[in-house]
Amino acid sequence: MERIDLHDKSFRIFIPHDKIQKSIEELAVKLNNDFKGVHKPLFLSVLNGSFMFTSDLLKNLNFQCELSFIKVSSYSGTESTGELKQIIGLGTEVKGRTVVLVEDIVDTGATIVELHKMLTDAGADRVIVCTLLLKPDAYKRDIPIEYVAMEIPNDFIVGYGLDYDELGRQYKDIYVLDTPSNQ
Ligand code: IMP
Ligand code: MG
Repeated sequence: MERIDLHDKSFRIFIPHDKIQKSIEELAVKLNNDFKGVHKPLFLSVLNGSFMFTSDLLKNLNFQCELSFIKVSSYSGTESTGELKQIIGLGTEVKGRTVVLVEDIVDTGATIVELHKMLTDAGADRVIVCTLLLKPDAYKRDIPIEYVAMEIPNDFIVGYGLDYDELGRQYKDIYVLDTPSNQ
């Protein structure tokens, strides 16, 4: 599909599925290399946005790892509120462990900074960030984003797990908001 309409907005194709898959395979090569010998790392997937990325990434990992999920939200509509609205269920022991936060996208970094603090406070030995997408022009925080599949400009996107007010998560491609400046 070339275009999709969600709520009151129109989006056009931005990153096709095969390009997403290729970037994930390349990221997995790095992880497979770097995590050789790391004892039982915990991949902590940040719901809802990263469900597709988590699934495709883990299918490409060849070392032993655990998977768990956590749910947070800092977005209202197309704007980040800068506040983490909810955190549901860190049900796994992280004390002394290497935790890999699996995100769909790092934008302002508010979510990742809060999660990093929470996991460090809970005794995680190392917290590593792994994200499908990074908006480098929006990210001004200190925490290093070690693993990035793709960098994108500061535009609002949907699809492949990402939503606009809860719609659009199911598409296998990524779409960008059509605005007068990028039409
Ligand atoms: P941050 O806290 O500002 O870094 O935003 C992180 C979260 O906001 C991500 O996990 C996404 O769920 C959501 N988000 C950030 N940018 C976008 C976007 O362009 N489209 C849809 N959701 C986004
Ligand atoms: Mg979201």
